[in-house]
Amino acid sequence: MRLFRKYEFHVSEARIEDYSFLENIHAQGFDRAWSVDELAATLAGKGTKCFVANIHGEGSKGPKGFVIIRTLAGQSEVLTIAIDKAFRKRGIARLLLEYVIRTLQADRVEQLFLEVSEHNVAALGLYKSLSFKQVSQRRAYYRIRPDNNQGMADQKGNALVMQLELR
Ligand SMILES: CC(C)(COP(=O)(O)OP(=O)(O)OC[C@H]1O[C@@H](n2cnc3c(N)ncnc32)[C@H](O)[C@@H]1OP(=O)(O)O)[C@@H](O)C(=O)NCCC(=O)NCCS
Repeated sequence: MRLFRKYEFHVSEARIEDYSFLENIHAQGFDRAWSVDELAATLAGKGTKCFVANIHGEGSKGPKGFVIIRTLAGQSEVLTIAIDKAFRKRGIARLLLEYVIRTLQADRVEQLFLEVSEHNVAALGLYKSLSFKQVSQRRAYYRIRPDNNQGMADQKGNALVMQLELR
């Protein structure tokens, strides 16, 4: 059994001061890291929002996870989600996505989409636990990271397109 210090997290919209923390968290999760400028450019896009999870009530520095979504014409898409490595497996990603789902339902958005590598066990577990369903597949879409591919040579992995009905 793994024991963690008990934290409570709360979700809010990202502020510009958060961007350098988000850059760092993103770099921990993805081969192709986004710079602060790229994050800012993404967030300036139409219909785009970023929600962050902070430790509640404590003067801890910066968000521990974030999600970016884009909503256009009644449909929303998760552009990215990442959690600080030191704070994974504590329910932060679930908290962020449940917040997003409630917000989109209040806004009468009908569907939430995302793309995930077929090899991303953690993310697939997360999305399935929230009732996302696979609706299609894009072949040879991702380059598999060496630490994710359990010894396989560098090769392309498939992307699964997943959807959640929000009505
Ligand atoms: C995927 C990621 C966002 C999950 O964040 P997290 O805060 O650790 O996830 P949570 O603690 O909220 O877990 C929620 C559920 O996801 C699943 N899950 C999370 N991590 C898992 C793992 N390592 N293995 C299997 N299932 C996992 C479980 O179903 C879990 O529910 P449970 O705790 O009741 O078993 C995180 O691992 C991450 O930042 N990965 C790198 C970036 C990334 O891959 N983003 C997704 C791109 S599509």
